[in-house]
Amino acid sequence: MAFQKDFLWGGATAANQLEGAWNVDGKGISCSDICTGGTHTTPKRITPELEKDTFYPSHEAIDFYHHYKEDIALFAEMGFKVYRFSIAWTRIFPTGEEESPNEKGLQFYDDVIDECLKYNIEPLVTISHYELPFHLTQKYNGWSSRELIDLYVKYCKVLFTRFKGKVKYWLTFNEINSATGPFGGFLSQGILNEGTKDFMHQVDIPQLRFQGLHHQFIASAKAVKLAHQIDPNNKVGCMILFATMYPLTCNPKDVLACQEMNHVKNWFCGDIQVRGQYPGYMKRYFKENGIEIKAEKEDAQILKQGCVDFYTFSYYMSGCSTADKTKEQAEGNLIGGVSNPYLEASDWGWQIDPEGLRFTLNEIYDRYQIPIMIVENGLGAYDKVEEDGSIHDDYRIEYLRKHIEQMKEATDDGVDLIGYTPWGCIDLVSASTGEMAKRYGFIYVDKHDDGTGNLSRIKKQSFYWYKDVISSNGQKL
Ligand code: BG6
Repeated sequence: MAFQKDFLWGGATAANQLEGAWNVDGKGISCSDICTGGTHTTPKRITPELEKDTFYPSHEAIDFYHHYKEDIALFAEMGFKVYRFSIAWTRIFPTGEEESPNEKGLQFYDDVIDECLKYNIEPLVTISHYELPFHLTQKYNGWSSRELIDLYVKYCKVLFTRFKGKVKYWLTFNEINSATGPFGGFLSQGILNEGTKDFMHQVDIPQLRFQGLHHQFIASAKAVKLAHQIDPNNKVGCMILFATMYPLTCNPKDVLACQEMNHVKNWFCGDIQVRGQYPGYMKRYFKENGIEIKAEKEDAQILKQGCVDFYTFSYYMSGCSTADKTKEQAEGNLIGGVSNPYLEASDWGWQIDPEGLRFTLNEIYDRYQIPIMIVENGLGAYDKVEEDGSIHDDYRIEYLRKHIEQMKEATDDGVDLIGYTPWGCIDLVSASTGEMAKRYGFIYVDKHDDGTGNLSRIKKQSFYWYKDVISSNGQKL
């Protein structure tokens, strides 16, 4: 048994983490542009007023804006069949509220897409990936306001129309379920409550986040419908941060705690986007947590008419759930839970679990029976450039190899897995910490946490390895 013949091998990135050129050609300020650098132990800060001598990693990032030809040529050299990237909303509508789009922004993505197509690389576009126009935070407190639905749909319409016939695969929101926890409040929804200073300690109002999710569900459903109307060939997917939870013990109390956590954190958003209605278990969760969702009469029908065509998710780690509140939370695991004693962790505390990927793929497919793509996976690690200029990232190869082996198992289990785009196929800025030092790429970029570096690109050992993986369609690992 093997991967499908036309399996989509590739890589994934996001605009705010690699493009740079943050204020070039009419681009507006996004929420990520006001985040400073940070480290594993020092959280990045959120600064509504830009500070003069502070380093903002998104402002130059790895300057993909001016290197995209070189970078896409490298992706093509690895044999990519698909490239997942995001469009910066602020390049198209700098504040989110303009009447007409910024032509220079559209032209840039036309160029990126054409460059992909030149090499027969299928573009997979994330419409919104962690970078709301900051103006929409200031004016509306982000997605907590219903106003954002129309603004988002207007933005989608421009993209679907402009890139019709060139882009077939779309994702409406990156890791939409990140907003089931406090860290997604600002990152994903642009909600900035008074008193918030840094990314790790946001002043959190769950009511706003869950109301914001409702607005995003409606926006996503409207976008799916519109995408199909504009071009029936369009395929639109959801994108879920999947951090699989196991019960810490077989104590039924732990099993139930785990089920509830999986429901709320991992399943809730996908259940709505795939099935078009709120799952029953959320009614109880909302009631017990004092959350009231304000919905309009037409919302139920909008959700029903906007079910996604395929399911995508990111997978980096798993965790455990327990009913015992005194147990310590697992480090680095953004959706909570406690550490699994059977697993090792990355340098950033993310617990590595390849078999969990097989388990997760089966769980998702059992539930929905629609095509699945893994659109993020990978190891954030420190890389060292040797004196001869080579980079031996065998730890990354090992991580990826073990995950691909489990993808193969899942395929043999009958899961309809259609693609795989490992995260940060070229080194880029970390979303959680703002670091460059946390590298994921097959391609190294000479850029460092103090802002220095000549931006040159170097192929890592994993570059050559992944090239073989792709050319053998996953047989040569
Ligand atoms: C996902 C995001 O959460 O994980 C990416 O969609 C992010 O934007 C990736 O970069 C890895 O996380 P980090 O914090 O290591 O960059």
